[in-house]
Amino acid sequence: MTKPALLFVCLGNICRSPLAEGAMRAAAAKAGLDVEVDSCGTSAYHIGSLPDPRSVDTAAAKGVDITDQRGRQLVAEDFARFTHIFAMDHQNLRNIEAVRPAGSDTHVSLLMDLVPGREGAAIADPYYDGEGHFGATWEDVWMAAEALVDRFR
Ligand code: 4NP
Repeated sequence: MTKPALLFVCLGNICRSPLAEGAMRAAAAKAGLDVEVDSCGTSAYHIGSLPDPRSVDTAAAKGVDITDQRGRQLVAEDFARFTHIFAMDHQNLRNIEAVRPAGSDTHVSLLMDLVPGREGAAIADPYYDGEGHFGATWEDVWMAAEALVDRFR
């Protein structure tokens, strides 16, 4: 099997997908799973930015440091670099498909499709909702990361 290369995608690449990347790195390390992991945004709003401080604090509370991450935007070349691309919500899913190059068969799906009972669900955008919502974001991405470990182990 080719080594899985997993890309987590939200709008800004500062709130949800950095947490998804951090959770996946942590879950893979814990399981001894060799995977490539990255995250990006469909927008150009936060290119070069650190993750939102609320995401940094939420991950840190779980023992995961995400301060090495910087915002970047999805590019067509990501379809060649990654075996799987996971969208945090339906708008991002549409925006990812709009970037797919002709002939690419990269798997693209909602991240929560991996979590039994949550298929078809979005990971709510906590950006405007305040600090209290980032814990729920972490729980969602952690469940998905554990499901990914089970799938690729
Ligand atoms: P994210 O959250 O997509 O989870 O990173 C957002 C971050 C920034 C904005 C919207 C959502 N924004 O409009 O700047």
